[in-house]
Amino acid sequence: MNSAAPIGIFDSGIGGLTVARAVKEILPNEQVIYFGDTAHLPYGDKSTAAIQAYSVKIADVLLRSGCKLILIACNSASTAAFELVKAYVASRAKVFDVIEPVIQYLKENHKGKKVGLIGTKQTVRSGVYRHKIDALSLGIEFAALETPLLAPMIEEGFLSNTISQAIIKTYLDDPQLQGLEALILGCTHYPLIKEHIEALYEGKVEVIDSSETVAKATKEFLAEHQLLNPGKGGKDHFLVSDYTPAFEHTTKLFFGEEVSLEKYPLWE
Ligand code: SIN
Repeated sequence: MNSAAPIGIFDSGIGGLTVARAVKEILPNEQVIYFGDTAHLPYGDKSTAAIQAYSVKIADVLLRSGCKLILIACNSASTAAFELVKAYVASRAKVFDVIEPVIQYLKENHKGKKVGLIGTKQTVRSGVYRHKIDALSLGIEFAALETPLLAPMIEEGFLSNTISQAIIKTYLDDPQLQGLEALILGCTHYPLIKEHIEALYEGKVEVIDSSETVAKATKEFLAEHQLLNPGKGGKDHFLVSDYTPAFEHTTKLFFGEEVSLEKYPLWE
């Protein structure tokens, strides 16, 4: 693997941009190639087979761009396709997901406590967080709630209006999510509404956002394997399977007006 090669990051849409931003903050010399599969979002409502097909196709695009590491910056894709993408990529690049670093964080910080999760139908129904927590016998009381309206709402740019506030509050008021010490944002879109979630909790519940944890794990891995870019990486590049105003707006907001954005249909 070439240390000067880019890092590939993908998600169904804008959510993974929160991970890409965290990666660039702690790894400014790395070049990022980002794929937002906006033609197929939200992934959370798709079948496992469909998410697997999209994920492998995107991994292929990122491999052809020469990426040394592929970060699946989407919980639904991490849940449905992590093992498959790893097998497909094999020794050509390292593959990271957004779930494992959060489990490690819980192990270090929340043993024996009540922890909640909000996520898409795909992520919650898979039970992946519950299985991993149980496997480590962390003594965590775990509660998970499907919140399928959140990702499409965020993709529509509804972050802080009366409708989004009411939807967020309705979900957080669910009886399952009471008495929490921490809440996992089990979808990479949710950091975009993190401040509203924190405001509703008035600082009484820790809101765990995977983007920083994943970025730190990425840095540690690259350092350990002598894969940190020794120079300054090339210009970051953003691919989308369909143009959406929210994607363009958020990319420019996070990475500046001059971002390099390209439409790249997955099947054409
Ligand atoms: C979605 O595409 O439904 C949300 C992405 C995620 O699960 O992180």
